[in-house]
Amino acid sequence: MGCMLILGATSDMARAVARRFAGEGWSLILAARNTALLERLSKDIQVRTGREVVSVSFDVLDTDSHKAFWENLSERPDAVFCAVGYLGDQKLAEKDFSQVQRIVLTNYVGILSILNLAAREFETNRKGLIIVVSSVAGERGRQSNYFYGSAKAGLTAYLSGLRNRLSPAHVQVLTVQPGFVMTAMTQNMKLPPLLTAQPDEVAEDILRAVKKGKDVIYTKWFWRYIMGLIRLIPEKLFKRLKL
Ligand SMILES: NC(=O)c1ccc[n+]([C@@H]2O[C@H](COP(=O)([O-])OP(=O)(O)OC[C@H]3O[C@@H](n4cnc5c(N)ncnc54)[C@H](OP(=O)(O)O)[C@@H]3O)[C@@H](O)[C@H]2O)c1
Repeated sequence: MGCMLILGATSDMARAVARRFAGEGWSLILAARNTALLERLSKDIQVRTGREVVSVSFDVLDTDSHKAFWENLSERPDAVFCAVGYLGDQKLAEKDFSQVQRIVLTNYVGILSILNLAAREFETNRKGLIIVVSSVAGERGRQSNYFYGSAKAGLTAYLSGLRNRLSPAHVQVLTVQPGFVMTAMTQNMKLPPLLTAQPDEVAEDILRAVKKGKDVIYTKWFWRYIMGLIRLIPEKLFKRLKL
């Protein structure tokens, strides 16, 4: 156990992870843009678990602030969990490049900025844990969300390389590949119940994967096989599908 920094801590998935890891004895630093909400979340987790929970303001788009943010944390983190993400508006992005930038900077570039700092410190310390929520959307581009999907694809490839680099330094890098999860991000979508996870299930899968020292998990687990099949569809056929 130790101290876990949670980025995007207001996300439904991150809240479930925060509760689960605090229950296991981790102290937490919750980081997000909405500090008023963070304060409430911190108090709630503190009361439920008796663990130390502090909150701090963090904007993944403000990359100039990341070095000072990292260096001024109240405690040195032993682990980082990142749930930052922005689905964005695909149709808007097709005509407005500022939407493309927001999608790519939030889901990819901004996350690399903060993880670079964590990676360097953990590599020097020769220990640490980095958990990042990517998405199965990054495994094959589809017309309905390829800006978001391509940013997640970049993130997944980055994490693979980071794991390769940090493995000799005993730093675990866990890539989380969710399929559908019932959260604020998907609240306006009609999700198929059998394929959809609850945030608490995702948190449970993540905790189990950390304990087992895993590299990549799919949640729910069968998304590994669904995506395996989707990747096998020949491009000639795939390009004609309405996905
Ligand atoms: N739900 C799904 O079906 C699903 C599937 C696959 C992957 N994912 C991924 O799972 C992760 C968690 O998402 P979620 O489903 O729990 O949705 P969510 O509740 O909408 O969480 C997204 C989080 O990202 C944060 N965020 C967005 N822009 C930010 C910025 N500029 N700086 C700092 N934080 C920012 C949001 O904070 P604010 O409250 O400040 O906006 C929020 O906490 C995301 O990476 C998402 O892409 C979700």
